[in-house]
Amino acid sequence: MCGIVGYVGSQSALDVVVAGLKRLEYRGYDSAGVAVLADGGMAAAKKAGKLANLEKELVERPLPAGSTGIGHTRWATHGGPTDANAHPHLDNAGRVAVVHNGIIENFAALRAELAGRGHTLTSETDTEVVAHLLAEEFSACADLAEAMRLVCRRLEGAFTLVAAHADEPDVVVGARRNSPLVVGVGEGEAFLASDVAAFIAHTRSAIELGQDQVVELRRDGVNVTGFDGAPAGTRSYHVDWDASAAEKGGYDYFMLKEIAEQPKAVADTLLGRVDADGSLTLDEVRIPPGVLREVDKVVVVACGTAFHAGLIAKYAIEHWTRVPCEVELASEFRYRDPILDARTLVIAISQSGETMDTLMALRHAREQGARVLAVCNTNGSTIPRESDAVLYTHAGPEVAVASTKAFLTQLVACYLVALYLGQVRGTKWGDEIQAVVRDLSRISDEVERVLETMEPVRELARSLASKDTVLFLGRHVGYPVALEGALKLKELAYMHAEGFAAGELKHGPIALIEEDVPVVVVVPSPRGRSVLHDKIVSNIQEIRARGARTIVIAEEGDGAVVPYADHLIRIPATPVLLQPLVATVPLQVFACELATARGNEVDQPRNLAKSVTVE
Ligand code: G6P
Repeated sequence: MCGIVGYVGSQSALDVVVAGLKRLEYRGYDSAGVAVLADGGMAAAKKAGKLANLEKELVERPLPAGSTGIGHTRWATHGGPTDANAHPHLDNAGRVAVVHNGIIENFAALRAELAGRGHTLTSETDTEVVAHLLAEEFSACADLAEAMRLVCRRLEGAFTLVAAHADEPDVVVGARRNSPLVVGVGEGEAFLASDVAAFIAHTRSAIELGQDQVVELRRDGVNVTGFDGAPAGTRSYHVDWDASAAEKGGYDYFMLKEIAEQPKAVADTLLGRVDADGSLTLDEVRIPPGVLREVDKVVVVACGTAFHAGLIAKYAIEHWTRVPCEVELASEFRYRDPILDARTLVIAISQSGETMDTLMALRHAREQGARVLAVCNTNGSTIPRESDAVLYTHAGPEVAVASTKAFLTQLVACYLVALYLGQVRGTKWGDEIQAVVRDLSRISDEVERVLETMEPVRELARSLASKDTVLFLGRHVGYPVALEGALKLKELAYMHAEGFAAGELKHGPIALIEEDVPVVVVVPSPRGRSVLHDKIVSNIQEIRARGARTIVIAEEGDGAVVPYADHLIRIPATPVLLQPLVATVPLQVFACELATARGNEVDQPRNLAKSVTVE
């Protein structure tokens, strides 16, 4: 939610900052702006709309060249997406510029206070107060980092701030509370960004910033302190993917590339999880096995697509460990006063590791004494850092707002967590765990096979481009898959799409069925739980009898569905619990193609942002 870049070095700051913003546009894209320190002053440009509008503005009205700069791509919270509300915000003298991600909750009081001292604020944002406060503090101490520390101590809420001042032309200062900010360290240059993708083309050497820290960036190094000025310890790390991973690589959209990367993402997430002696390992587990053995309840918290991964995890956790598992939307979790104690294991699933709802849920859980295990795709992000254990998914950077490869890897990670719990608690024998891991290791090829057979799905999607509604049905683990299929369609095609448990159909949703309404049905394997399969075949007949156009996703060799499928999408046979890994893929392709056919922006759907760092 909002992307931020800062740069100090010897390159053109504008080039570095704009290129960085391009990589961060997934975080918000309703306006963008830059500020460059040049010729002893501050030069800024900002524009409503996508980054392309700003780039056009920069061609028409070029900024002077400078080698220190900051930039921002916005997802509006306070004040609509206008030129005036776009960042950077400057003080009245135009000497200090600031960009911000998050919400400053006490901005109204600060604004009134500043107005009382004669400041004129020109935007509707919460951010602008910071530029004015920084200008005041700087005029007293002539040190931007110190001014930032003093200002941050007065701010309430969540914020990442990056600022520059014309009187300190070789310095950029950043601050972080509850919002992401990473430092990149190059040769004679340094970077600040919401995400390493912004500077990966220049350096793979990064530093994590902790909570309530201020960083001063200079060409020859960085200095990190707490808001109180005390020197802070930092953790450096090497980014293990390169710039090409964050490029489209010949695909029209990042989403297409990310769908195609799923076989590798799934395989990478499994890699190195099993020791020579056959036991599973997680990345960092600061929870003693004795504590895991005592766990009497698992609660999964997550948002959006990650929540759907959690719903699927429940089936595996309960089946393999016999520990009760609840799954809850992170945004609802802490407000209902959930029952948590030291015997509760909370699993927080998040691609970005920065989703504020999920972060707040995990903090609440830890305050109540529960242990938290994170499943996360972003090394060094806040959620894994604040958790007791973490299992990283190895999907690589996911740029398209609608999550695809991260979802599949979250599923793999959840299966591994369930098996790990089974291992520690002795509910699964080593050979049983290895059998599931073997099944999982075959999935990468199965996903590849699904991807090779997607042309009819794309064709079908195009033929449905003028429909208003698509419904999705599933049972057992197919139910969350149906929810995910519907979410993808809402996000991307802006269509009315709903997922239902097929058995629930008769209790209401069947009233939605009318002539030619497309209904996608995720059919469980006829092997194993055949009773589920038979029931869903009946459900398909029920909706077809009422005019639905049935789009059936069924395992290869499942002949029972053939007479009732207007369109049949075949997926490879897998063990029942693992079917979502293959069944979700056609739904991703379907949504992506429908969005394209409807002329929508696939990678950047309207009103959304990939990383939602506000509650
Ligand atoms: C946003 C994105 C979704 C994503 C959700 C959770 O709403 O648009 O695609 O599933 O956040 O994100 P996380 O990073 O926590 O997995």
